[in-house]
Amino acid sequence: MGKDKNWWKRAVVYQVYPRSFQDSNGDGIGDLRGIIRRLDYLEHLGIDAIWLSPVCQSPQDDNGYDISDYQNIDPMFGSLDDMEQLIQEASKHHIKIIMDLVLNHSSDEHRWFQEARKSRENPYHDYYVWRDGKEGTPPNNMRACFGGSAWEWVPEVGQYYFHQFSVKQPDLNWENPQVRREIYQMINWWADKGVGGFRLDVIDRIAKEPDREITENGPRLHEFIQEMARETFQKSDLITVGETWGADTELAKRYSNPDGSEFSMVFQFEHIGLDQQEGKEKWDLAPLPFLKLKEVLSRWQKELYQCGWNSLFWDNHDLPRIVSRWGNDKEYRAESAKMLAALLHGMQGTPYIYQGEELGMTNVRYAMEEYCDIETLNMYQERREQGIPESSIMDSIYAKSRDNARTPMQWDSTKNAGFTQGEPWLKVNPNYVEINAKQQIEDPDSVFRCYKTLIHLRKRYDVFADGKFELLLRDDERFFAYTRENQKEKLYVICNFYGETADCSLKEPWEQMELLYRNYKMPGNASLYQPYEARIYYIKKQP
Ligand code: NOJ
Repeated sequence: MGKDKNWWKRAVVYQVYPRSFQDSNGDGIGDLRGIIRRLDYLEHLGIDAIWLSPVCQSPQDDNGYDISDYQNIDPMFGSLDDMEQLIQEASKHHIKIIMDLVLNHSSDEHRWFQEARKSRENPYHDYYVWRDGKEGTPPNNMRACFGGSAWEWVPEVGQYYFHQFSVKQPDLNWENPQVRREIYQMINWWADKGVGGFRLDVIDRIAKEPDREITENGPRLHEFIQEMARETFQKSDLITVGETWGADTELAKRYSNPDGSEFSMVFQFEHIGLDQQEGKEKWDLAPLPFLKLKEVLSRWQKELYQCGWNSLFWDNHDLPRIVSRWGNDKEYRAESAKMLAALLHGMQGTPYIYQGEELGMTNVRYAMEEYCDIETLNMYQERREQGIPESSIMDSIYAKSRDNARTPMQWDSTKNAGFTQGEPWLKVNPNYVEINAKQQIEDPDSVFRCYKTLIHLRKRYDVFADGKFELLLRDDERFFAYTRENQKEKLYVICNFYGETADCSLKEPWEQMELLYRNYKMPGNASLYQPYEARIYYIKKQP
């Protein structure tokens, strides 16, 4: 690993959400020393890199996605020395550290913004996006992603600044070349510290043009990204992954062009937004369409084959837990978590595992006052003001709140799941007594072992990295099945997606193939699949 420029095509990445991973000093918030303590666990799981959600200095209005100093660590997480030590210690465990770069906006407490808001003549004023206006009448009706107007009035300068997220996250002005230069210097400073790559937060929003109400995919977007790549990561073997909610397959091919002109890959969200209805918000619940899921995932597999690169993920710190979403987090929790893992890890791309996904951690149902996420809190208030019944708001929160993913990591069955000796910043999911890492490491049948096996298979067989994807049983309402094939090998991944036993109509000489993985122990019947059963068959082709 490392010498090969495209090492990330065979890698598996694990996302750590630092405040919820492991506390080491009893303040109830996870920290860098806590992560160092858990490197043995991550090495045992077999991952190659950690994507670390932001740890830079921040007032934590949006849990670190509001950075006030890009070249310092927030004291809540530790110090710059701790960060350097994490990079070194992780490397001893054959793990690289991927930093989260939040470049669309900074915190309003960043030195640049503090200066910018002093006067129109201040050299930093143009680091942000300002428009004249009359107090009380914003330049237009654009709304911020976390609710409310996207414009905020600053009396000292008699202007509004633009913010796509919270008021405390003013948008940076990428049109200003000096802003871009400062950003590139900072990226290179981190690269010199030995990080293994970068995840670029909402990167498709940097080229905004608020006068034309353009946020995503602005006209200068690819120009900015290509300049950044040239000035920073292009000549190295760093992994780069852009967060692009607005990407379709055509755009993704551009972002992940094998010529390296932009990123290694992007996070696209088409498979995540399938229950999002046109013109509605994510909170307006709708059924999940299974056939559409098959269509979307296979289209991405086919379209990017040999001309781009996919990231593979179900979960992250913004999304509900996958087992509570497409799986069954009650009687078939373990089976469905494993099935979803096998389905994704058989595909082409770089898999990302979000902390706790490898244990089959689930969503939570808390009382309103126990939630912390700014997006959840803002939505609750807005909808209450609109007169929407409490119970319907709570249903949306149970299904979609970002805090579902942010509950502390469940390490063992001791107090607070072994996450902290103090009071956790967000309540631990009470099911930690049954669902925890300690129990699962020892249990050969656990969700954890399933992930470990899948990671191992990806390293062992080339076909996981380079095989061509073909969807099988396209219109079947129960099975998600596909093949992967290269010159020498072929895989069949067959998943019963639901909680009933089902007969699979695929007829192949299964007995002549090797069964690489199955999420049930009991002897199998070739065509009968147990609830949420997943199998991966393998054949080496004749030379
Ligand atoms: C995407 C991040 O994943 C999310 O957590 C954050 O709130 C927004 N970007 C704003 O930075």
